[in-house]
Amino acid sequence: MIPNKTLLLLPGDGIGPEVMAQARRVLDWVQSSGRASFTIFQDHAGGAAIDAYGVPVTDATVAKAKEVDAVLFGSVGGPKWDSVPFAIRPEAGLLRLRAELQVFANLRPAKVFDALVESSSLKPELVRGLDIMIVRECIGGIYFGEPRGIETLPDGSRRGVNTEVYTTREIERVGRVAFDLARKRQGRVCSVEKANVMESGLLWRQVMTALQAAEYPDVSLGHMYADNCAMQLAKNPKQFDVIVTGNLFGDILSDLAAMLTGSLGLLPSATLGARDATGRRPGFYEPIHGSAPDIAGKGIANPMAQILSLALLLRYSFDMEEDAAAIEAAVERVLTTAGRTPDIAAPGRAAISTTEMGDALIAELAAL
Ligand code: IPM
Ligand code: MN
Repeated sequence: MIPNKTLLLLPGDGIGPEVMAQARRVLDWVQSSGRASFTIFQDHAGGAAIDAYGVPVTDATVAKAKEVDAVLFGSVGGPKWDSVPFAIRPEAGLLRLRAELQVFANLRPAKVFDALVESSSLKPELVRGLDIMIVRECIGGIYFGEPRGIETLPDGSRRGVNTEVYTTREIERVGRVAFDLARKRQGRVCSVEKANVMESGLLWRQVMTALQAAEYPDVSLGHMYADNCAMQLAKNPKQFDVIVTGNLFGDILSDLAAMLTGSLGLLPSATLGARDATGRRPGFYEPIHGSAPDIAGKGIANPMAQILSLALLLRYSFDMEEDAAAIEAAVERVLTTAGRTPDIAAPGRAAISTTEMGDALIAELAAL
């Protein structure tokens, strides 16, 4: 009996549906191999859900997301929803899904494909072979901290408030994910905060230090202030193996790290929760790029980040390492031999469409 897995696809807005359609073709390829069968559900999220249901994610969608084995997410947001109330903007749907699923560890790999070394804005020697893993805490910190809001002061001026807050437990659980990953990589973790200015950062540093001493003496731990980390990423990115940091710094630093690789359109992410007693762990997978409204509907979006997010899903949620590795290898071969979408088109070569890139990938997979 081949295992049956359940999956929820949430393409979202902008280029989300276009790139999700290509990921779906890859899912069909995995099924046709006979190694797994999938029951696939699909629903709206973000702006598309506001249009269809009046909210950026419905309770029913949240319930389904909790029930399935894994969620593959596209991207949300766009100018169309710029004027909806803040509490129901498209991004609020994504944040609610992360929080309800309790996926606290957002893994954002920044890996440079050899074929794309020239696409980076940094010199080739600084990025060739680059392979960083950013572990971003994803359901805490200033994104969710209380108090928050905008209030009107007695003099009529207004005051906006958000709160950066981390507890020992929140720091430890994301820290363990980072240390465990480092053990399978180069064995080095760099913990990032602003312990020089923020108490929450000071606690972060103390907890990471104690955790390493107690449970991970075989992994090396360094600390860096977030501003210095941004500078070091631009100056000498290969010094990093695993970076672990809070929600806001992780959001910013992962965009920076992503750009070092030459294309946001190539970078996937996995967001994982804790294993329960039965070994089940919630998993939420999404590309790092956003909904790119400027190119939505034109058929030119790069589908690879969505497809690589599916590969991570197969690896981390379904334990299908061989299929994940096959997809990653096929992506690399397409980048080397076939055409590319405009975001990464080689100089002097015509760019191809989203669907054509999907065709090339399916052809590579079929040839395996
Ligand atoms: C990301 C995005 C989201 C975030 C937005 C869309 C809410 O920027 O996944 O990095 O800030 O977490
Ligand atoms: Mn971001």
